[in-house]
Amino acid sequence: MDINATNGPLAQTEADWLIVGYGTIDSAESLSTPLLELDTALDGAIHRLATSGDITGKLGETHLLADVPGLSASRLLLVGLGTTSELTSRKLEKALVTATRRISKKTSVSVAISLPGLSCDAVSDEDAANLAAIAIQVGCVGQGLYRAKPARHAFSTGTVISSAQASDAAVNRGSILGQAINLTRELVNRTAMEVYPETFADRAAAAATEFGLECEILDENRLQQERMGSLLAVAQGSVKPPRVVVLKHNGGGDGAPALAICGKGVTFDSGGLSLKSNEGMKTMKCDMAGAATMLGAMTAIARLNLPVNVIGLAGLVENMPDGNSFKLGDVLTARNGTTIEVLNTDAEGRLVLADVLAYAVDLGAERLIDLATLTGACVVALGEEVTGTFSNCPDWSQAVGQAAERAGELAWPMPMHDLFGDLIKSDVADIKNVGPRWGGAVTAAKFLERFVDSTPWVHLDIAGPSFASSNKPHREGGGTGCMVRTLVAAAESLA
Ligand code: BES
Ligand code: MN
Ligand code: ZN
Repeated sequence: MDINATNGPLAQTEADWLIVGYGTIDSAESLSTPLLELDTALDGAIHRLATSGDITGKLGETHLLADVPGLSASRLLLVGLGTTSELTSRKLEKALVTATRRISKKTSVSVAISLPGLSCDAVSDEDAANLAAIAIQVGCVGQGLYRAKPARHAFSTGTVISSAQASDAAVNRGSILGQAINLTRELVNRTAMEVYPETFADRAAAAATEFGLECEILDENRLQQERMGSLLAVAQGSVKPPRVVVLKHNGGGDGAPALAICGKGVTFDSGGLSLKSNEGMKTMKCDMAGAATMLGAMTAIARLNLPVNVIGLAGLVENMPDGNSFKLGDVLTARNGTTIEVLNTDAEGRLVLADVLAYAVDLGAERLIDLATLTGACVVALGEEVTGTFSNCPDWSQAVGQAAERAGELAWPMPMHDLFGDLIKSDVADIKNVGPRWGGAVTAAKFLERFVDSTPWVHLDIAGPSFASSNKPHREGGGTGCMVRTLVAAAESLA
């Protein structure tokens, strides 16, 4: 869907739905723009709604008006933004997605969003225009991919009415980011029956062609040659052969990749012989969210033409129990020569990433970020909305944290003391793939750290925020596309 930027006028904007965001209404006598503009066009209707208290401007309140003869738009949706001096980009996004979700129930609807000149420190007019475009792209896409009657339908066109200086660029950026987020969401939301290593790799190759990325797909023979014994062991129990996808964006000319983004792509995690419970397995089609986030971000990095070299890697396997499965007590040799004693086949994500991270190091990456739905323990620690960050380098960790902040996403640093590394020492091999119950998110990160050499590295555990269990007014359940924007911002910080 294309989204255009315009600077009004509001009343003459053609659309099936016009969404107007407005701050807290102090008094019906002193309406601020754009409500004043609307009020004039609607013969005082806004004044009456404000007087009766039907609209107050409270954050997230919505009010529908289907009969609006004074406007070129057919219908109006008012959405409250709360006290504008207290607005943040997260609050604004919530309000706008609430609005776009509300009106996306019919097919082929066109939408326009108008925002007041916010004059608030935390959200510039450019940020607001960017978020409006994201809300238009993201709010109309649902998780009902397999329903005869989907609950949500893509808009036909979008318009952002903004007085921002650089509104075209901001809207274009938001539109690209929104589509990247949707690509990630879709791949997470599709079933493991459809999305398995080969089909994920095909989809990555198609996206690479579409957006101008180089793409290489490593099949099982090549993975043998590359000595990825740890990743291959996880794949052993599945009839689906593994793949590693390598995407390259060469925006920085000749020279080493300034950044490698590595994603865990377990297309289904049954737990293997350490089989999960039914309850624990239900949502495990989401276990490739790290790889899908990498892919979404790489498409955006390419489309935004960032002047930096970035490579994206996905380690793709299915983790299944079978006569051929890898077993407890097995000792694996990873690409970098480290030997690993397997004591739980459900701690498979770290085994996959071990070889992918080592491969990224060998490709000459100067910095690393990996993303993985790695541990339930991280969800226990930080809840369902905050990404855990783990690093071997304070500077790079801080830079990625700041990228998340600029992107309006929530991430929090976790400890990496040596004592956690001691917990994965093995009597028979260099390390074992599980530690004790406590501190499980950190021991998993300490495991990964063994495969990055001295390269500055940040691990993002997205087990909580990458997949939402239920629909909320402000966001759809299922894949969320979290951290796509953070990755783009992190790549930008190196440009
Ligand atoms: N994919 C899971 C982690 C997960 C849990 C992701 C919940 C999303 C939601 C991972 O492979 C796993 O099974 N981790 C185990 C590790 C344990 C065996 C050390 C876990 O968290 O229980
Ligand atoms: Mn697992
Ligand atoms: Zn897993």
